[in-house]
Amino acid sequence: MCSVLASTRINNLQILILVFWQFATVTDCKTVHGVLSSRQARLYQGQYITKFCFYGEALVKFKLNTTATGKLYFYLGDKWPQVEQTSQCQTKLDQAQYSFGLSTISGENKFAPWDDPKVWHVSYADPVTCDSSVPALEDVTFTLQMLNPDSGGKPIIHCGCDETGLVSFYEILAFLYFAGAIAYGQRLWQTIQKGGPMHLVIKMLSIAMIYQTTGHFLTLIHIYRYSKNGEGYPLLAKLSTAANGLAEYQMLLMMAKLSTGWTLSSSFSTLDPKQMKQISATVIAISILEVIFSFWEMSVLLNFVKIIIAGAFGFNINKKITEERSTLRREFYNKFAKCCLTWLLAYPVLAVLTFMVLPFHYRYKVITWGLLTAQSISILLLYRLFLSRSLYWEVSSLATSTLPLRMDRGYGTKTYNSDTRTVRIHKHIAVN
Ligand SMILES: *[C@@H]1O[C@H](CO)[C@@H](O)[C@H](O)[C@H]1NC(C)=O
Repeated sequence: MCSVLASTRINNLQILILVFWQFATVTDCKTVHGVLSSRQARLYQGQYITKFCFYGEALVKFKLNTTATGKLYFYLGDKWPQVEQTSQCQTKLDQAQYSFGLSTISGENKFAPWDDPKVWHVSYADPVTCDSSVPALEDVTFTLQMLNPDSGGKPIIHCGCDETGLVSFYEILAFLYFAGAIAYGQRLWQTIQKGGPMHLVIKMLSIAMIYQTTGHFLTLIHIYRYSKNGEGYPLLAKLSTAANGLAEYQMLLMMAKLSTGWTLSSSFSTLDPKQMKQISATVIAISILEVIFSFWEMSVLLNFVKIIIAGAFGFNINKKITEERSTLRREFYNKFAKCCLTWLLAYPVLAVLTFMVLPFHYRYKVITWGLLTAQSISILLLYRLFLSRSLYWEVSSLATSTLPLRMDRGYGTKTYNSDTRTVRIHKHIAVN
């Protein structure tokens, strides 16, 4: 049965991976390469290039393959929605707070310093953009670098003001993951190897953790490079999104199965394979949807989906809790529900909170910090819950009858190996 489960999972993964590869997304690099197109500029009343959060005495550098008669137009983030609604071409260009010409092959343009960080939208237009009676001009290849000043005032920082500080956070978290893997990896591996009724959920949780860690390291490599050249490795960033999607998938699968009674039912043979398939298919569909939303940065939809999942999960597990007669099992489900809801709701809650109280240039950072911290902590707490005491053994004691590793049903006996583990993991959390 286990091998059957494993092989369905591998199939599922293959499907997921295939889907991820289909996306060719626009990357959000701050060293921007592309073609300045007179036709596009005419079509959209200005060709949209990028946006960037500048602060202080910032610098824009450009390189072209030939001189251009067009200009780069800079619009303040606050005013941008209004600009987008303007239908009159020349008025739209006139609304730019700032513009400069591209009459040399390469050059740079310094902004007058200002104190507050501000997001700017950049677009390109040339003299014939608003005059369709004349033919459009030749295309021009360009490279544009956006630079913020470092602490000494030298404009060499590629990160926008909404991104500074992320690199060090990722470094610290990567170190913690690494340390955690060294300290507990082997013991965890042994626990999984030993089998026992809880090893299935621990395995699922560990796979989720591995995906999450992989995504994390990929992001770290990308973001580290990004801070050096403004480009990073866009492919790694995409792969990291995919890895996070897989982690999400694994977690959702675990939640769905545990909350519908899987692994806790009296015997594996009584499992309804049809229902299992339905659960897996639903979870795959939801995970793919979530990855699509993250790839295209549709955070409102992503949050919406997460809230719905949390609602469905909460409803399910609540039903389970009210039906359950054993206090211990109720307690187990309660704790499990809390950890999972933390994992699910961290993003929507942070998004709403930061939107309400923080200025825009903190939002992305705070959401990233908060989300990764909350998710890591909820994974740790889940490990602790699964490994701790005899609670889980008791919960799944019905399932143990068919397994060789059968523990004493009396949960008062505290002689399990897992006790020592609990204490150590507990310490680990305290250190974090
Ligand atoms: C510059 O690049 C554009 C777009 O690739 C190309 O059409 C154009 O011929 C190039 N101009 C020169 C002078 O190389």
